[in-house]
Amino acid sequence: MMDDRGDYLQILSTVRRHLEERAELARPLEKDAAFAAKSADSVQDEAPPPPKSEEKPQAAPSVDALTALAAEASVCELCPLYATRTNVVFGAGNPNADLMFVGEAPGRDEDLKGLPFVGRAGQLLTKIIEAMGLRREDVYIANLLKCRPPENRNPLPLEAERCRPYLERQIGLIQPRAVVALGSYAAAALLNSKERISNLRGRFHPLGGIQVMPTYHPAYLLRNPGGKRYVWEDMQKVMELLGLEQKGKGQG
Ligand code: URA
Repeated sequence: MMDDRGDYLQILSTVRRHLEERAELARPLEKDAAFAAKSADSVQDEAPPPPKSEEKPQAAPSVDALTALAAEASVCELCPLYATRTNVVFGAGNPNADLMFVGEAPGRDEDLKGLPFVGRAGQLLTKIIEAMGLRREDVYIANLLKCRPPENRNPLPLEAERCRPYLERQIGLIQPRAVVALGSYAAAALLNSKERISNLRGRFHPLGGIQVMPTYHPAYLLRNPGGKRYVWEDMQKVMELLGLEQKGKGQG
């Protein structure tokens, strides 16, 4: 019993350290009044109760719950992908982010490092985030699947079904104002839709109190650079929603 508890606490402390390193917790984006007044019907399976008094630190409850969720995911065996993964790629970034990006699944680089979007597609995602006037540490980045499918094949329905609750709980804890769904798998899972990404993109889809903007996946843009202008159009809508300054750059 003591060993189990010791192991669990060690996992918790490792995951917590990991999240803290990645999140630069000291620099959350400013939340505005609209965020504070977020609608009660947001996706919030495990959302912490609203702060009861001013003395309560804003970030703490969801950071602890997110750390616990990451610990839970780190030992997940709910689908066969656990057998071939090197690392669970839970997510990274600001646990208080107003903006969250959700991709499809970790690739080889992500599996090796345990971090989302660190390969070529990740470099392009970083450029997109920076073109929006943000840094990676300002936003939260996660995937629909937390484990790499062998040879980067597409997620199977069973994998998406088993893993989606982790994503829903992540969103419920972070409570971003907007979620950018990168590619058709993330969009389909979040919106429960079979529509093509080309039909879904370009407009917000409300999910509880959160606005979901589907757009093309950065890996698609690497193969089809002509799609960048559409992604930039979509990101400008996200920037407008979040009150971020539009500087007229992008499409890099
Ligand atoms: N593609 C994704 O969808 N997610 C990653 O983390 C990397 C590549």
